[in-house]
Amino acid sequence: MSNKRERKEAFERAQDKFMQILTTLDKDEREYFKEFVGGVFDQVDGQWASDLSDHDSDGQWPDMVEVMKQEARRKRQRPTNLPEQAHRLNEIIADLRETLPVTAQAPDETITIPETEDFHDYTEQNTVHVDAFLYDDDAIDDLCDQGKMSRNYCLKCGSHDTKPLNFISHSASVPQLQYIFRKALRKAVSKTLKEKVILDIGSRTGAVLYSGYLFSDAKTLIGVELSPFFCDLQEKMIIRDDILKVPEVIAQADIIIMNNVFQFFADVQKQREIWNYLKTETSKKPGAIIITIPALEEQLSAAGLPSDMTKRWLFPVQMPTPSEDDEDLEHIHMYRVI
Ligand SMILES: C[S@@+](CC[C@H](N)C(=O)[O-])C[C@H]1O[C@@H](n2cnc3c(N)ncnc32)[C@H](O)[C@@H]1O
Repeated sequence: MSNKRERKEAFERAQDKFMQILTTLDKDEREYFKEFVGGVFDQVDGQWASDLSDHDSDGQWPDMVEVMKQEARRKRQRPTNLPEQAHRLNEIIADLRETLPVTAQAPDETITIPETEDFHDYTEQNTVHVDAFLYDDDAIDDLCDQGKMSRNYCLKCGSHDTKPLNFISHSASVPQLQYIFRKALRKAVSKTLKEKVILDIGSRTGAVLYSGYLFSDAKTLIGVELSPFFCDLQEKMIIRDDILKVPEVIAQADIIIMNNVFQFFADVQKQREIWNYLKTETSKKPGAIIITIPALEEQLSAAGLPSDMTKRWLFPVQMPTPSEDDEDLEHIHMYRVI
């Protein structure tokens, strides 16, 4: 009981101290402070927390404004080491999780399950959309533990006769993105991408753009996205348009990334139109790299186009063997424009 009271008093003292600190700060400093406090909570188990407790142990509270400025500077710089890159990506993921539902669908979005062999038993009832960039398998397990999601659906209500749900993601996962930027492009194209313009067609939450920024030294990253909802979300990084209407953007790109852009978002006739257009536009840039998930031949055939359409257009680039045994990485394919 007394322990409970002590905890309550300690909490109230912390609240008072916090309010006192706030009153000593001006408007700009309060902005920095807000970011700083958020950062401390994000990293409470990490290096930062131990740095702070070091300061604390010799009775010195660190110079807050200096620490806040350092944190703001850190966020403005492109990180060059893997722990910092991964940490920055996790910060972005945490922010996006706060903003988006688990499905990461836009409120007015129409997503159609393709009528292809791969999805023949997928229905509205047995399919859930989960964003693989925001939620990896462990995070999905946590959501299931919290009752916010289920991996199974009940075949006969009330019985234990259940079947696994089909999971569909409309974003690339972090392992896929790391594989593309840290391994595949470095090996198959060049160690440095500092002369390269990368275009992500259908950039959605910005997963490819953020990862390209953090895990490569690409000169420019461009996203084109049809959905106004996702453009608003990523307003500084994405061009709001239909890829059909911006051939000049395709002309700039040295590397084009397309993660299952059209199958779920355009009818088959529009898919055909887009692929014919992309063939015409990218053919103007021999040597350009195209990365697709899944294989382009698969997507062309789903659109009712001949798979030999790639014949005088592209040749496949050998991908490095993934170090992890992750079947999602096997769906990533790379081609060079002839
Ligand atoms: C599967 S998501 C890809 C997300 C992202 N590139 C990634 O890998 O994480 C496909 C996105 O393409 C967008 N899209 C579909 N057709 C498009 C078009 N014609 N022009 C631009 N964007 C399009 C959709 O709105 C959707 O957000």
